[in-house]
Amino acid sequence: MRNQPAAKIVGTGASIPEKVLTNFDLEKMVDTTDEWITSRTGIETRYIVQDGQCTSDLGTEAALRALKDARVKAKEVDVIIFATITSDVGFPATAVFVQKNIGAHNAAAFDIQATCTGFIYGLEMADAFIATRRAKTVLLIGGETLSRITDYSDRNTCVLFGDGAGAAVLQPSDDDRGILATYTRSDGRLHNLLMMEGMGTKNPPTAQNYHEKMQYIQMEGRDVFKHAVTCMGDAAEMILVKAGLSQADVDLLIPHQANIRIIDATAKRIKLPPEKVYVNVNKYGNTSAASIPIAIDEARRNGRLKQGDVAILVAFGGGFTWGSAAVRF
Ligand code: ACO
Repeated sequence: MRNQPAAKIVGTGASIPEKVLTNFDLEKMVDTTDEWITSRTGIETRYIVQDGQCTSDLGTEAALRALKDARVKAKEVDVIIFATITSDVGFPATAVFVQKNIGAHNAAAFDIQATCTGFIYGLEMADAFIATRRAKTVLLIGGETLSRITDYSDRNTCVLFGDGAGAAVLQPSDDDRGILATYTRSDGRLHNLLMMEGMGTKNPPTAQNYHEKMQYIQMEGRDVFKHAVTCMGDAAEMILVKAGLSQADVDLLIPHQANIRIIDATAKRIKLPPEKVYVNVNKYGNTSAASIPIAIDEARRNGRLKQGDVAILVAFGGGFTWGSAAVRF
């Protein structure tokens, strides 16, 4: 563990759409029940965008809140990293729309795509930019409108996902707070278990590909579940070793919010009691790259994460990708 971390999170913000989609709403759309969804996933509600709203709208609101929280002006931002699998358009990057909207005209702006692990990958990059003095202020956003790529006639997937965005501002650390360690992995051999096959160059948006529903998330739920439990557990253990921390040093585990059973298994693996685990999957469902920054912002605002607390962030997603970070807030 470094004595003084290179980069620290100096502000956070989040944006959740207004429209709520409850399990009871879904009961009217597919053959499912509130009881099935809550017992298998822990999800009760999720929020989805209205017509015309897109990922950069949520990302912009989260970014403005994070900048305000950090007392940093948009023109001070050197780099904007936007982690998403639901970009506004094929190109350019969603990050440049946020750049335009907030007036961060001195920044370099680009997207990264590491599915549900996107925020952790972005955190590692932001830390590296600051550690190597390539940047002083990095705006990192995780944002998704998964409702746009969800098939609301497929009960296997449509109950799981929601929309939202979270953002963090990072700057050089001048004390013991900051990014203590990061860990990122992927395994492309398992890409077929969770993917959206269409809309890219392999399966362009033709009538036939639409007919085959390639524009939607496809998932082998049971296999994804098994790998998620193993990889998130591994990543949680690994980050303790990398950061030189023991279980007792951890104040809060903030896992990717996909399924309460995956969250519980991850906590059990590193022997953390429930009061040290942050859970909001019941409210928002799985918001992919947005889930961890939304949870961080919420935990800071409701007092679960206080200044000086050590949090472990852990995620897993399509690719597969997985990773973790240890952060002193
Ligand atoms: N309502 C009612 N029944 C359903 C529903 C539903 N919404 N969805 C599936 N079922 C049925 C299935 O068809 C299956 O029926 P069958 O046995 O007749 O074939 C039955 O329920 C049981 O299915 P399982 O897959 O065994 O159910 P399981 O307990 O594994 O839960 C779930 C399914 C919730 C999808 C789970 O596998 C899971 O959470 N997987 C991880 C998925 C995930 O989180 N992906 C997101 C990206 S990766 C990540 O973020 C970690």
